[in-house]
Amino acid sequence: MAVDSHLEDQERQRLQAQYAEIATLAGGLAHEIKNPLSTILMNLELLGEDLETISVPESRRMLTKLHTVQQECGRLENVLDAFLQFARVGELDLTEGDLNRLVSNFIDFYQPKAKERGIDISPHLANDLPPAKLDSSLMRQVLMNLALNAAQAMPDGGLLELQTRAADGRVLLEMIDSGNGMDERTLSKMFQTFFSTTQGGSGLGLPTVRKIIEAHHGTITCQSEPGRGTRFTISLPASE
Ligand SMILES: Nc1ncnc2c1ncn2[C@@H]1O[C@H](COP(=O)(O)OP(=O)(O)O)[C@@H](O)[C@H]1O
Ligand SMILES: [Mg+2]
Repeated sequence: MAVDSHLEDQERQRLQAQYAEIATLAGGLAHEIKNPLSTILMNLELLGEDLETISVPESRRMLTKLHTVQQECGRLENVLDAFLQFARVGELDLTEGDLNRLVSNFIDFYQPKAKERGIDISPHLANDLPPAKLDSSLMRQVLMNLALNAAQAMPDGGLLELQTRAADGRVLLEMIDSGNGMDERTLSKMFQTFFSTTQGGSGLGLPTVRKIIEAHHGTITCQSEPGRGTRFTISLPASE
């Protein structure tokens, strides 16, 4: 028995070291790609400006091709940023915090963008909410990723509800949108890395969200109906 658990320990340590090495390598690779990519993007922009000034018959066609390259490079940059976000989730900085305050701050920040997209934000924050151990910067990222998805599901605007409440020693946060909703297939795959139904999506938004919530010892669930909308429910342990 003792020998077995010793071997299990050794195996776990070996796997952990291997995982850490792969994570470091992948993170390093993403950074190595990001640097030349930003040089490429900058030069493409300069090239575009040069092309605008010369008027040969081919210059329109050249500009169109240039824009395609720019778009694809921008997409690569988004994927790399999303990847780095996902990879960074390991290092949590948990402090006793107020989920309501986090949500209000997020709404203040997001309101102007929402307005531009025709999205009304409706908050319902419980006033008896106990504190919870939170990494505020990662939790902001959770709200941002969920709100971005909600906005993408409401291309013609809609309603975004943000609710908090206390339940059985936990604090609950719900984000409800009136968007397109998801079919069964999307619902079953949405937390898989690189699964995306949106043009140019990284497919890392929800996997990052779930990783952050699980690192907080919390859970995230989703209900969705095509054509009606989507509700994400996050449940975190309350402090005390
Ligand atoms: N609020 C939502 N409404 C409808 N579909 C959603 C919503 N949130 C996520 N999805 C679906 O889940 C998929 C995965 O989301 P995500 O991991 O954030 O990747 P991405 O946004 O890059 O596609 C999206 O492509 C979309 O199909
Ligand atoms: Mg997303």
